[in-house]
Amino acid sequence: MNYPYVRLRRNSKAEWSRDLISTTRIAPSDLIYPIFVHDHAENIAIKSLPGQFRLSIQGAINIAKQAADLGIPALALFPVVNEQYKCKDGREALNKNNLIARAVTAIKREVPDIGLIVDVALDPYTTHGHDGLVDESGYVINDQTVEVLTAMALQLAGAGVDAVAPSDMMDGRVKAIREALEAEKFHNVQIISYSAKFASNFYGSFRSAVGAASLTGAKDKKTYQLDIRSSRVAMLEIEQDINEGADMVIVKPGLPYLDIIRMAADRFNVPILGYQVSGEYSMLKLSAQQGVMNYEQGLLETMISFKRAGCSAVFTYAALELASML
Ligand code: PBG
Repeated sequence: MNYPYVRLRRNSKAEWSRDLISTTRIAPSDLIYPIFVHDHAENIAIKSLPGQFRLSIQGAINIAKQAADLGIPALALFPVVNEQYKCKDGREALNKNNLIARAVTAIKREVPDIGLIVDVALDPYTTHGHDGLVDESGYVINDQTVEVLTAMALQLAGAGVDAVAPSDMMDGRVKAIREALEAEKFHNVQIISYSAKFASNFYGSFRSAVGAASLTGAKDKKTYQLDIRSSRVAMLEIEQDINEGADMVIVKPGLPYLDIIRMAADRFNVPILGYQVSGEYSMLKLSAQQGVMNYEQGLLETMISFKRAGCSAVFTYAALELASML
């Protein structure tokens, strides 16, 4: 059959028909909301992320309630650590009573049903801004970093997180964390691994949001995060993390890496999550401010694209806005 008997525009003639033929849907239950917590009594707007705040612990509790009421299943919590608690080794990460531990305990007490996911990486705690321990040359040392991150994961599990999210890209960290969690009887703490995390230019707004030091020593994270030009290595990273005990894997950034999400979704049977990172969110906000795009429609289109590429959920700073829109 051919034109004019086949007219593909027939199915697009009306909204009801377009609804019927759509194969991708987005719901609040597809969203994870990343938020920032600091050790101050007020919420302070983050310049680099319009609409986002450095929240007090009480502010974070309020947001958790709003998110839960809107049907958002989980939050990703990031600490903004006071400068006086930072050092070369990021030791504050292991303090049982640190900001993130207090925030987790408080949110869990008030909003027990929302999932709490916390990053495992040292960058909010180090003076040099890298995700791990560095040697004299500025190189991030793999195995010693894994030991510290394992302790950090146990500390977070003790504080009550539902899932730890290693975002450091060290080799072997998922295995070490999984073994430690099992040994300490945290059988149900999930590992949501940033498996395919690229050395991207899109993290800048986040780094200023958490007040991560501008990187010293090595000026970028290219010796541990993935080269943006390679897709096969990303598949190897995901395969490793699954074998080591990851429950879900993250591809990050999101929109510029939908090919990676699709490749992973076709190959692996674990849930694949996408992360619409800070720079992507800033781009949407800024283009809306400049009047070059309808923000809500543009945002929705990015979410549909993530889901169409094959992920089961998306981290996005626009989660609250989206959930209210949907
Ligand atoms: C830290 C971390 C980063 C992000 C999440 N965890 C930044 C980085 O790796 O430098 C980026 C999130 C975003 O840009 O939204 N390990």
